[in-house]
This record gives sequence, structure tokens and C-alpha cells, in this order.
Amino acid sequence: MSQTMAAGGSAHTELWNPKTYDALRRQLIPSFDLLYDSAVAAVAMSVGPTPRVLDLGAGTGLLSAALRERLPEADLVLQDRSEQMLAQARQRFAADDQVSVRIADHLDELPAGPFDAVVSALSIHHLTHEQKQDLFVRIRKILRPGGIFLNVEQLLAPSEALEKMYDRQHEAHVHAAGTPPEEWAAGRERMKHDIPIDVDTQLGWLREAGFGTVDCLAKDWRFATYAGWNEA
Ligand SMILES: C[S@@+](CC[C@H](N)C(=O)[O-])C[C@H]1O[C@@H](n2cnc3c(N)ncnc32)[C@H](O)[C@@H]1O
Repeated sequence: MSQTMAAGGSAHTELWNPKTYDALRRQLIPSFDLLYDSAVAAVAMSVGPTPRVLDLGAGTGLLSAALRERLPEADLVLQDRSEQMLAQARQRFAADDQVSVRIADHLDELPAGPFDAVVSALSIHHLTHEQKQDLFVRIRKILRPGGIFLNVEQLLAPSEALEKMYDRQHEAHVHAAGTPPEEWAAGRERMKHDIPIDVDTQLGWLREAGFGTVDCLAKDWRFATYAGWNEA
């Protein structure tokens, strides 16, 4: 386990409590297992047995941990701007020599490629739309030919009426999952910082960034797993 820090970075507010983060995920995110399992399957089917993988906005390392189970020989680079979230990831992977963490913002220069896969979960929707598009271009440049960019993402619905339905579906899940009301209230507060956009627009941005094949692999109303392949 090694750690590096990118130059630059930006001041930010910590939105999550790293200590309770993992335990609350399935309560707050509908179809958490479908979304993350689809992500892992897509990456595993797109890379060889010893891939180099970059996890952007890795947080406590949940997505990387799921990838590690399926790809025991992968080199994993976990990047996030939050030292506190990465501290949890560092503990999780303390005995794993093939994991490194990097404190950096999505706006900082990305680590040098080539990577076989760049993955991200529930993080890129914090960027403005222009920043998202720019990030997609930069991601493709550090991917190997044939490499995959995989994003588990929170979406905006394509119409106001549908957005109300997305919200009702999300809230129904949170209540059915027995989420403590104060945690849902905190989730609602965090969502005020989000800048989501619909999945079709994001797939279009991937095409514009040069990804040859793009697809939405799993979706449950407000949440989706989508990917772009950097065709050779
Ligand atoms: C909801 S958590 C997701 C963590 C992890 N990917 C997962 O699946 O559980 C969002 C993470 O994105 C990080 N993040 C948000 N904006 C970022 C930015 N501009 N640059 C780097 N990390 C960012 C946060 O610090 C946080 O750890």
C-alpha cells in the first residue's frame, strides 16, 4: 500500500461520515448490488487477469473491494480528494501490496496511463457538466486501446415529471430499507450538492470523447451503471 498526493487540488466540504458510510450504502442506494455487480462483471469481461485499474472518487474503496474479489491480481489505484474517505480505504487494503491510494481532485491531472480500466462510482455527478465532459476526454487518453471506462452514477431524469417519479422510487426504497430518518435527511442535504444529468446525455458525451462503443448496462430509476470502450 503506497500513497501519493497530486499537486493542486481544491478546498471542499466533507459530505459523508467515513465511519458509517459503508453500512448505510444499501439503505440509501436502490439496487446497490445490481449496480456494483454489473460494474465488476463489465470490467472483468473487458480486461485480462492482471489489469491496471484506476478508481476515481474511490472513497472508502467499496467499488475497488468488489473488483478485488473478481480480479485478485489487479493493480488498483484509488484516487479521491478526501483524505478521510481514503483513510478507510487504506485500512481496508492495508495488507494488499497491489493497491495504492492517491489524494487528488477529479480536476487535477490524471495519473499517467495506460490503464486497462478506469472506474468510478457515485462521484462524477459532483462536477459541472463542462468538467464531466472534460474528464471523459482525459479518461479516454489514459486508457489502453480496448480499455473500459465504467461509471456507476446518480442521474437526473429526462423530464421534470419523470424526475418526480425517480424521487418517489428512491424515497420508497429508503423507507422500505429501514433507513434511519436522520440518515435520509442527511442524504437529502448531500443531494443539494449534486449536479446530475440524464444517462443519454452522458453516453453522448462519451461518444464525443472518442469512446467507440457505449452502453447503459444496468439501471434502476435514478441510478445506473454505464460504460464506454476505447476501441482499438
Ligand atoms: C458517494 S462517495 C462514493 C465513494 C465510492 N466510489 C463508492 O462507490 O462508495 C463520493 C466520493 O467522491 C469523492 N469526490 C467528490 N468530488 C470529487 C472530486 N471533485 N475529486 C475527487 N473526489 C471527489 C468524495 O470525496 C467521495 O469519497
